[in-house]
Amino acid sequence: MVEQRASRSERAALPDFLYGTAWKEERTAALVELALRAGFRGIDTANQRRHYFEAGVGEGLAVAYRAGVAKRVDIFLQTKFTYRPGQDHRLPYDPAARLSVQVAQSLASSLEHLGTDYVDSFVLHGPSSGYNWTDADAEAWEAMRKERDAGRTRLLGVSNVSLGHVEQMIAVHSEAPACVQNRCYARLGWDREVRSFCREHNIVYQGFSLLTANVGMVHHQLVETIAARYSRTPAQVIFAFARAVGILPLTGASSPKHMSEDLASSDMRLSSKEVEEIESLAR
Ligand SMILES: NC(=O)c1ccc[n+]([C@@H]2O[C@H](COP(=O)([O-])OP(=O)(O)OC[C@H]3O[C@@H](n4cnc5c(N)ncnc54)[C@H](OP(=O)(O)O)[C@@H]3O)[C@@H](O)[C@H]2O)c1
Repeated sequence: MVEQRASRSERAALPDFLYGTAWKEERTAALVELALRAGFRGIDTANQRRHYFEAGVGEGLAVAYRAGVAKRVDIFLQTKFTYRPGQDHRLPYDPAARLSVQVAQSLASSLEHLGTDYVDSFVLHGPSSGYNWTDADAEAWEAMRKERDAGRTRLLGVSNVSLGHVEQMIAVHSEAPACVQNRCYARLGWDREVRSFCREHNIVYQGFSLLTANVGMVHHQLVETIAARYSRTPAQVIFAFARAVGILPLTGASSPKHMSEDLASSDMRLSSKEVEEIESLAR
């Protein structure tokens, strides 16, 4: 059954954590249900069967709705359009069709997988070139705008972008994305350039791989000392730090303990000195 579209005022606000559903395969539905029961209200997925099982996300949501854990309107649901090179043979669109048609087919398939008639955010999984915002990206983005105009997504975003990509896309389309989703390496100043651009342009910066790309940071003496000071875990310190510098964090936790700890990091406030100390580790 398709959960009906909510009126604008009823729709979910941006939560302070996104639960990521990549690489969960046959455990996807159960983990999505578990994450919702734990308290997550933001779900990130993609119509890219190679790394995500989006239909499994839909199953988990349906179970949670039936059990009264949450309603569609309580959940910030985000999915992505992925170009052909990022996919395997299980495509959500006709590869011979124009890109604009592929975008529409991909989102239609996502809505079916997720049992809904709108998503909260629709993200271009990555630009077609590592260097520039190309004509292909422009065609895909214009098609995404049409989906938004038709009410099938509230917001539009881009992922895996450099500062140059975002600057070029704004110049071409006279529009900033509502969100950017990037991998956040501590050694690159936690993506400092893109983050500050996002802050200046009121773009929500979503950071993934905060723990997995920064294992050295999670085990760093400074982070461990701060964790001990607050009787928290180093992972919670990383998430609290992320929020303090304007990152909306993603987590792909599969253990219930990690899910609860991740959510509990939301009320953790680091001092500005601690934030500076963690940020300066990467300089
Ligand atoms: N846009 C893109 O191209 C892109 C690329 C990659 C990822 N993503 C998104 O980002 C999501 C998250 O990916 P990710 O790379 O950040 O995470 P991830 O690869 O799913 O891994 C999270 C890891 O951190 C561990 N963990 C979580 N909370 C912890 C805690 N409190 N203490 C200790 N360990 C903890 C988890 O362990 P347990 O599993 O044992 O709990 C797991 O090993 C993905 O699912 C996907 O939605 C997007």
